[in-house]
Amino acid sequence: MSVLRVKSVEQSISDTEAPEHRLSKDLSALDLTVFGIGVIVGTGIFVLTGRVAREMAGPSVALSFVIAGIVCALAALCYAEFASTVPAAGSAYTFAFATLGEFPAWIIGWDLMLEMMLGAAVVAVGWSGYLTSLLESVGIALPGAIAGEGATFNLPAALIVLILTAILVMGIKLSSRFNLVIVAVKVTVVLLVIVAGLFFVRAANYVPFVPASKETPAVEGLSAPLIQVLFGITPVAFGVMGIFGAAAIVFFAYIGFDVVATAAEETRNPQRDLPIGILSSLGVCTVLYVAVSLVVVGMQPYGQLSEAAPLADAFKSVGQTWAASLISIGALAGLTTVVMILMLGMSRVMFAMCRDNLLPSGLGKVHPKYRTPYIITILMGLVVAALAGLVPLSTIAELVNIGTLFAFVVVSIAVIILRRTRPDLPRSFRTPLVPLVPILSVLACLYLMLNLPVETWLRFLAWMLLGIVIYFGYGYRHSRLSEHHVGR
Ligand code: ALA
Repeated sequence: MSVLRVKSVEQSISDTEAPEHRLSKDLSALDLTVFGIGVIVGTGIFVLTGRVAREMAGPSVALSFVIAGIVCALAALCYAEFASTVPAAGSAYTFAFATLGEFPAWIIGWDLMLEMMLGAAVVAVGWSGYLTSLLESVGIALPGAIAGEGATFNLPAALIVLILTAILVMGIKLSSRFNLVIVAVKVTVVLLVIVAGLFFVRAANYVPFVPASKETPAVEGLSAPLIQVLFGITPVAFGVMGIFGAAAIVFFAYIGFDVVATAAEETRNPQRDLPIGILSSLGVCTVLYVAVSLVVVGMQPYGQLSEAAPLADAFKSVGQTWAASLISIGALAGLTTVVMILMLGMSRVMFAMCRDNLLPSGLGKVHPKYRTPYIITILMGLVVAALAGLVPLSTIAELVNIGTLFAFVVVSIAVIILRRTRPDLPRSFRTPLVPLVPILSVLACLYLMLNLPVETWLRFLAWMLLGIVIYFGYGYRHSRLSEHHVGR
């Protein structure tokens, strides 16, 4: 079964030394943690919190953040073991190639495009929304055709993507400095929400903490969660089930810790630093999210939270407009790095795929001066800019969740497999309690996936089918592991 040909861990690591594909190794554990926070804190906490509290969970949205955080922690423990064992660009793609084989690896690489390219486009559109509202507050109105919900072409979203692409081409160290400054701004704003918000919390807003469950007849047909269609569970909002449904959505807020693993080849001491970067960025964000969501639902009755800018608007509702403006600026800055690092991760996965000839290898060339995979970065930037400009993305953000959860499932299974097939490999970080933790991780991710709408599943399957066609049309024959290339 040549579609299951495996690329050995040794081969993956030695590939990283080939001069034409060599990236510069500049990043430390702290850089990686900051990278992680830079990509994690974004639309999820700045935007989704409000919608989810209003429609699904009420004050118990904080528990949804805890649940999603636990699911991510299980997966993060698996990512950390892999990243310390196979420190090569490509993250889940590379891990799958070393264990499950070429075809599953391609599927994962293809799947990561959903996570990162679509994710970057979704967040760029959110960025453009914040920009528009901030400009409006100083009296500048952008024409409706080039910005906002009904725009024909969302110009600010496309432009920010192109600017960030240029920064990415110019080098990872520059990107990481730019990131450091912005993460500082973003975390300050989040801390401001927590500390300043505490003064406006009213205990009455927490009662009832878990609102009684309500039937939601509106959720029918393709927009119903798969779990309901499969098992006939009536859709409910609020109540205990509401907390879980909300967890599947706020999961978006945690996406990004896995992207840290894509920077493996640019890390000075990956065996030690990657697990630190992955686990500490996730830990910091979990604490921030639970605190922010508790404060925000304490400031306003949950039914009155705003959908577009819940954090800023909660401060407006208590008369603190200064804080609202600061939060909007922080969100704008914060979303920038999310877009940038999602694209960075994507370019590194595609770089790894080019190196294996599953995508045309010429696209994976490294720039002689900047030492970044510039061709693939620019191409990807153009695609993301077009997506962000043209596609109304708010409804397909869930596609990003399903793609990411799928990658988590595969990585968790792969940890168990690699322990069996290559027990000899040095693992500087070991997932505790194997196989229990990876199995729990798989089950938890599958459960969240089941909570996503049927239409999301259909779109996901369509994307995967397209990937399969492309693999058999191109990658299978061109792969470096194919008979033709290794002369077997
Ligand atoms: N976790 C990132 C966000 O919430 C993708 O924007």
